[in-house]
Amino acid sequence: MRIATLTSGGDCPGLNAVIRGIVRTASSEYGSTVVGYEDGWVGLLEDRRIQLYDDEEIDRVLLRGGTILGTGRLHPDKFREGIEQIKENLENAGVDALIPIGGEGTLKGALWLHENGIPVVGVPKTIDNDVNATDYTFGFDTAVSVATDAIDRLHTTAESHNRVMVVEVMGRHVGWIALHAGMAGGAHYTVIPEVPFDIDEICKAMERRFQMGEKYGIVVVAEGARPKEGTMELKTGGIDQFGHEVFTGVGQQVADAIHERLGHDVRTTVLGHIQRGGTPTAYDRVLATRYGVHACRAAHEGKYGTVASLQGESIGLVSLQDAVGTLKVVPIERYEAAAALFG
Ligand code: F6P
Repeated sequence: MRIATLTSGGDCPGLNAVIRGIVRTASSEYGSTVVGYEDGWVGLLEDRRIQLYDDEEIDRVLLRGGTILGTGRLHPDKFREGIEQIKENLENAGVDALIPIGGEGTLKGALWLHENGIPVVGVPKTIDNDVNATDYTFGFDTAVSVATDAIDRLHTTAESHNRVMVVEVMGRHVGWIALHAGMAGGAHYTVIPEVPFDIDEICKAMERRFQMGEKYGIVVVAEGARPKEGTMELKTGGIDQFGHEVFTGVGQQVADAIHERLGHDVRTTVLGHIQRGGTPTAYDRVLATRYGVHACRAAHEGKYGTVASLQGESIGLVSLQDAVGTLKVVPIERYEAAAALFG
């Protein structure tokens, strides 16, 4: 059999571990070959592919962040217009099954290819952990570890200077990274996109701390967080070429508002792409490898239209339909449990 794979959307620690898992399983269990398309859907459309061998080089990518195939984004309209070209490219390359690795947008594309008769098995990916129908995506644990380490470090400098530190973490639509890093790092307030925030509540929590003799406060803010209507205005940034909202730095705006209201010294740290770079944690390497092995086996067993999924401790398969359409948001009770420790 000839398997093709590609990585699409934002990169994520563990992508290379998935690719390695696919290549090694294809070779060792089935004697199959694997080809990788470069730069996501764009490379598939432009027929840019490289042969991936089960050799020492692929073995060593386990530890490497990013993706050896490169990644990219393609506007859904361009993707749809290219269906005949995609079919032709896959046929010419002798590809029997395609394993796209990506987030919700990529899996939507995979579903559409499946509906157009292309044999597809997806692998879910995102540091945001927002893909539905899977408990955890690889990359999330690494991002949380990076953010937690940053918060740990901010405690001491904040305390030394009697400051409020606002830490902005990734999380476009959901607040899993903020929730977990905030809890692990002992933040004094955490703001997530699912629950519009009230700046006065954040200020009250900080003020309470100072009144009780604490010298500092740490507020974790997800980049996609927004205020409750009528509380404070956020700058607007418009929409980019892929239809994504352009963020305007909610962390800094929250910091400014705290300073204005309380007069305390406030500083902002935006962690940004640091959370997505570098070597994956051991947990992410294991999870990503298991996804790769499982997707490769599913492709050989003809279980198309599916996506590898973590359910509890086991990796299984769910239909692509179940994985797309809605995002896995933070349940309110999880946020309330975190809120019990605010202030
Ligand atoms: O979806 C993952 C993610 O890291 C989001 O949290 C973030 O908003 C986005 O990707 C940033 O992507 P880009 O690479 O386009 O800056």
